[in-house]
Amino acid sequence: MTTKHRVIQIGPMAGSPSANERLQAEYDVFELWKQPDRAAALAQHAKGVSVAVTSANTGCSPELMDAMPDLKAICSWGVGYETIDVAAARQRGIVVSNTPDVLSDCVADMAWGLMLACARRIGQAERFVRSGQWGQVHGSFPLGTRVSGKKLGIVGLGSIGQGIAKRGSGFDMDVRYHNRRPRTDVPYTYMDTLVGLAEWADFLVVATVGGPGTRHLITREVLEALGPKGMVVNIARGPVIDEAAMVEALQKGTLGSAALDVYEFEPKVPDALKSMDNVVLLPHISSGTYETRQAMADLVFDNLKLFFEQGKLVTPVA
Ligand code: 8YV
Repeated sequence: MTTKHRVIQIGPMAGSPSANERLQAEYDVFELWKQPDRAAALAQHAKGVSVAVTSANTGCSPELMDAMPDLKAICSWGVGYETIDVAAARQRGIVVSNTPDVLSDCVADMAWGLMLACARRIGQAERFVRSGQWGQVHGSFPLGTRVSGKKLGIVGLGSIGQGIAKRGSGFDMDVRYHNRRPRTDVPYTYMDTLVGLAEWADFLVVATVGGPGTRHLITREVLEALGPKGMVVNIARGPVIDEAAMVEALQKGTLGSAALDVYEFEPKVPDALKSMDNVVLLPHISSGTYETRQAMADLVFDNLKLFFEQGKLVTPVA
């Protein structure tokens, strides 16, 4: 009988059904997230444990790293890793993995779902039908906005951004983007300022990484450049948009509409947005399909396996 490797699970992989059970089956798991006094629990149980499992939501702080003195690897569920202090990990000789690429298609699909839902008033129309208003007054439902053939601006042309761009070509859209650096491997036009991209675009989709480097990248000025007919779509991270400025611009009509899966202070959604029909609100579910969540969990397990076998990770963060 082989003994199971011990891992510390910092937080649950709540969005992947059966991933926690699989972790229990394959590893000797210390579930930190179930401990009422984490510091005391780590003081007692962390010695000798080299691997921690976490998620994009739960992350791992430098303090937590220090409380696990033998930690060598953090395997995280989710592509975003702004909740893990990667620099602090590097300083301590700890490697970190995430789950990139496997969720790009589903997140790109959802960006399109949001864009179409908001432009064509799908959510509003559904509320109209469900509340029994249809048939009361002929033609009473307001018109939507055409999507096909319009101008699509993408902020952040990584794997998800490229998935969104590719789908844009299917809708005959002119696609441009802004990125840290122009890419040489894509057919889309690079815009060197965000304001310039927003002024040009009908739809501005935010697909950047999160974290301090992109906090409030989408400023009031960018939103106003997008204008009274423009739509901002966010499937990245809430804090990338200055949320207070966005709410104000929507209230004043200096921004046309917003389609959002993420928020600055999740799970808190500004009340002002909930009463607006030019806004679509989702509860951070862009990667939430059976297939993608399974693939994310599988990648966490692939990283764990490779680390225990060879001291390497399949998808180390850059
Ligand atoms: C998850 C995510 O839906 O991978 C990420 O970084 O944000 C998503 O896939 C999220 O972590 C669950 O809330």
